[in-house]
This record gives sequence, C-alpha cells and structure tokens, in this order.
Amino acid sequence: MNIAVLCSGNGSNFQAIADSLKSGKIKGKVALMVCDNPKAFALTRAKKAGIKTALIERKNFKTTRDFEAEIIKSLEKEKIELICLAGFMRIMGAEFVRRFRNKILNIHPALLPSFKGAHGIKDALDYGVKVTGVTVHFVDDKMDHGPIILQEALEVKNDDTQDSLGQRIHKIEHKLYPEAIKLFVEKRLKIEGRRVKIK
Ligand code: GAR
Repeated sequence: MNIAVLCSGNGSNFQAIADSLKSGKIKGKVALMVCDNPKAFALTRAKKAGIKTALIERKNFKTTRDFEAEIIKSLEKEKIELICLAGFMRIMGAEFVRRFRNKILNIHPALLPSFKGAHGIKDALDYGVKVTGVTVHFVDDKMDHGPIILQEALEVKNDDTQDSLGQRIHKIEHKLYPEAIKLFVEKRLKIEGRRVKIK
C-alpha cells in the first residue's frame, strides 16, 4: 500500500512511520511526504531517508481549494491509498476529505475530544489534568473530530513542563501511529458511526 505523510514541521512522527515501514513489519511504503513549509525539518528527514517530497505552499495559490487540489494531484500521481497527517498544521477542506473518505488519519497529542487544536500539550498542562495522552483518529471535515482508532493515556507529573510532558507524549506517538497504520493496512478497522471496531 502506498502511504503519504503530510507534515509542516519537525517530522518526528514522519520519521517513526518511515522507520517502521522500512522494517517490513507493515505491508506498506511511504511513497510521498507532502510538506507545506519550506523550513520544515521533515524535508531534511525525507531527503535522508530517500523518500520523495512535494513542497506545496499555500502562498503560491489563489485559493485554499487550488492549494488542496495541487496536494490531491500529487497524491494521485503516486497512487496513494492512505494519508497520514503528522503535525500538518492545516484543516483540510470538505472536498479533500471526501476525495479520500476514510483514508486519512491524524495524530493528536491529547485524549480527544479534550484539548483539540494546535496546542494540545500546553492546553492539557495549563488546565491541570492529571491524565492526558495521544489519539490516532480518522479525519473528517471537523477539526480533531473523526472516529477514534487508538488512544493511550499517560500521567501528568507534579513537576512536568511542556517539554518533559511533550517528550513522553512523542514517545507514545511514535509507537501508536505505526500501530494504527498497521491495523489500517491489514484492513482490520471497521468504522461504525463514531466507533472504530478493531477486527
Ligand atoms: C505531534 O505531537 C502531533 O501530535 C501534533 O503535532 C506534533 C508534530 O510533531 N499534531 C497536532 O497538534 C494536531 N492537532 P512532529 O512534526 O515531530 O511529528
């Protein structure tokens, strides 16, 4: 199965996905990394891993629709069957989501539906929760909203900072995302309304 990862920044999840697919445990291949930010470290990682990249910047298009159409074109060219958003800091439009219905996954650094948005780790810490975690879910047309595939919780410690909590969250992310991808590739995920049954 040809998989694309979409990134905007560091790309540590992209790296974890690429590494785990390379090991052969998942019958899939990262055929493309799409990035919307020329300064993203994810681009350096992809180059090093020998993975094809498409740098597609919003500023080069008149409308968001045109920008997304270009992304769709690059995904279709590589015959992508699964799209993994990994720190891709944009909400994809309804057309994009419809085109790849139930074929887009996202990872979020909190236990959804808590702490949606771009600052899941900071928001959980500021709120004072004792438990937070990681969610991998299907993408629908609302932000951080689609049916949940996997979640893992972790405790917030007394002396946690955004950095220390973030490090433990990322460690979980790097394990949980490849697990969810494996389930998808093996066609073991069945969506029933909001629930995802794992076969
Ligand atoms: C990850 O922690 C991911 O959960 C988060 O961005 C980070 C990207 O890190 N995504 C969101 O907050 C989405 N709402 P990475 O670039 O090192 O993979």
